[in-house]
Amino acid sequence: MSNNKKVVLSGIRATGNLHLGNYFGALGKFVRMQDDFDCRFFIADLHALTTHPDPKMLHENVKQILAEYLAAGLDPDKNILYVQSDVPEISEMYLLMNMHAGIGELMRTASFKDKARKALGISHDGNNDEEAVEKEIIGNQSGKSVNAGLLTYPTLMAVDILIHHADFVPVGKDQEQHLELTRRFGRRFNAFYNTEYFHDPVNFNFDGKPVKVPGLDGSGKMGKSEGNCIYLVDDEKTLRKKVMRAVTDAGPTEPGSTPSEPVANLFTLMDLVSEPDTADHFRKAYADCSIRYGDLKKQLAEDILKITLPIRERVLEIRNDDQYLSRVVREGAERARDIAADTLRDVRHIMGIRKI
Ligand code: TRP
Repeated sequence: MSNNKKVVLSGIRATGNLHLGNYFGALGKFVRMQDDFDCRFFIADLHALTTHPDPKMLHENVKQILAEYLAAGLDPDKNILYVQSDVPEISEMYLLMNMHAGIGELMRTASFKDKARKALGISHDGNNDEEAVEKEIIGNQSGKSVNAGLLTYPTLMAVDILIHHADFVPVGKDQEQHLELTRRFGRRFNAFYNTEYFHDPVNFNFDGKPVKVPGLDGSGKMGKSEGNCIYLVDDEKTLRKKVMRAVTDAGPTEPGSTPSEPVANLFTLMDLVSEPDTADHFRKAYADCSIRYGDLKKQLAEDILKITLPIRERVLEIRNDDQYLSRVVREGAERARDIAADTLRDVRHIMGIRKI
């Protein structure tokens, strides 16, 4: 791996099968980056622990995502592919970095507020979430609790990134705030110890802005917890059925009208998976009111399948090849640990943890 290539680091939490949102927000980008950058991609199993997965499921999910990484085309010879927990240096540096992470700033993170609110059974009212969460955490009237790992999720993510001195971190829009915190932690460390040890990592997108992949239920983004996902491993029949059932509307009645959100979402998906001409064709049909949503959906399903079916087939091949999978992560862990150990050694030294 040549030394002048920019360093790329990213990971996906091990919480279940990957869907189209993960593919266009992350994995697809990883695959496109692997030739031009010095890439390290990992499976975030420690981050998955924040939501208390069943241990057997966690293990299965780690294997599944690894198989999906490989099936989508990530080449273990070009990239360092590893499992987060196989690199204990990350956990140690996480402890060290937590000494400089503020409880307040962690509590104000959008993802924390959201998860804490749910865990504490506080309903969403938009304005006072922060206050309500804080009050309940300290006052604890409900007897429910939020684990400290959830609070320090961004510290662990910052360490994932900083331990590699990454330049680029390809992630979806929802991760921008975590990336901002990473930069803040790095700069704070530099300022506190009067060093220039860390530099700012930035998001990476091929054409400007981060993609948001809509779900099939008419509004919002595709997400595991929303139940509106198309999975990379969906079989043909399931996938077609999901697309045919996607929410639409009663159809355009006036020429040139703006599509409603559910229909606009289908166009957005089409922009991601279909040829530009195809999307144009259906946009025009919408504009002149000749569109038939059934045709649109059939075409959309067809074009999604072109991307997902080959991946699905390879996942099925790789998924049970335990020897191959464990060889990939063993080699990946070795390489990642070499890098991580160098950073950890420096960080310990800078912080004053030195041999007597
Ligand atoms: N928080 C990310 C997500 O939920 C996963 C993640 C953990 C990550 N550590 C990372 C992504 C480091 C990029 C870099 O998708």
